Amino acid sequence: MQLLDGKLTSEQIKAEIAEQVNIIKASGGKVPHLAAILVGNDGASETYVNNKVLDCRQVGFESTLIRLDADVSEAELLSRIDALNKDKDIDGFIVQVPLPKHIDETRVTLAIDPMKDVDGFSPASVGRMTLGMPTFISATPHGIMELLARYKIETAGKHCVVVGRSSIVGTPMSILMSRNSNPGNATVTLVHSRTPDMAAICRSADILIVAIGKPNFINESMVKDGAVVVDVGITRVEDSTRPSGFRLVGDVDFDAVKGKCSFITPVPGGVGPMTRAALLMNTLKAQSMQLQK
Ligand code: GUN
Repeated sequence: MQLLDGKLTSEQIKAEIAEQVNIIKASGGKVPHLAAILVGNDGASETYVNNKVLDCRQVGFESTLIRLDADVSEAELLSRIDALNKDKDIDGFIVQVPLPKHIDETRVTLAIDPMKDVDGFSPASVGRMTLGMPTFISATPHGIMELLARYKIETAGKHCVVVGRSSIVGTPMSILMSRNSNPGNATVTLVHSRTPDMAAICRSADILIVAIGKPNFINESMVKDGAVVVDVGITRVEDSTRPSGFRLVGDVDFDAVKGKCSFITPVPGGVGPMTRAALLMNTLKAQSMQLQK
């Protein structure tokens, strides 16, 4: 078994991006600038957004964090988005989800200019991805594709099983893996909560990508010998022995299945850091797209 080391790979990507920033600076160009809107004080969202700001600092990007109260009106949030759409200094921005219940996430996603949609959540971005056109691919699927590419995982002609059909991970992942591209060209099965005998389908996977947010859901009996396993889950599970009071647990029972896999992502240190690196890749791309406008 070999680890698909997302931490190490993301550090390599960040070093490459930092180098690009140095080149931009040396030629008098504009440093990429990412903005993030965070509504409310959800603990996990705060951590994610703070990490995004730290990542920007690490590679030399500019960043702006806009914090709004949990009871901010939808109209106020939409007007902040409109301001970012128009702000020439901002190359790309994200609105961290989940949002408070009184705010319509779809309306928010639709309000983001697709040219600045570095999360790749907008219908325009998803449509372009589906058609194989240049676009922003949302950070987690993008990060996973990059990880598979850098480890030269053979995907063409393989059976890829994606567990979970969320619009930000499972669904785009299934499309990307089936596209005529490398990585890609896999025969894809997408399974979900209504799939009968999910275990048997998982057991037939050469590449198993799991994104359902259920700690340790995938056990040894669901993994084929020699499979490549990508674990997207990062659930916070209470752990009083940790200073934080919790630990992060993946959707795959790592210790139970690692002996059967050819490659597997750890949690933490697998998909998470690749997601963060992918947002930086998208922001760099956004900056070059603004130049071409
Ligand atoms: N919440 C969980 N993951 C993400 C992400 O990639 N982008 C945004 N905007 N919110 C998230």
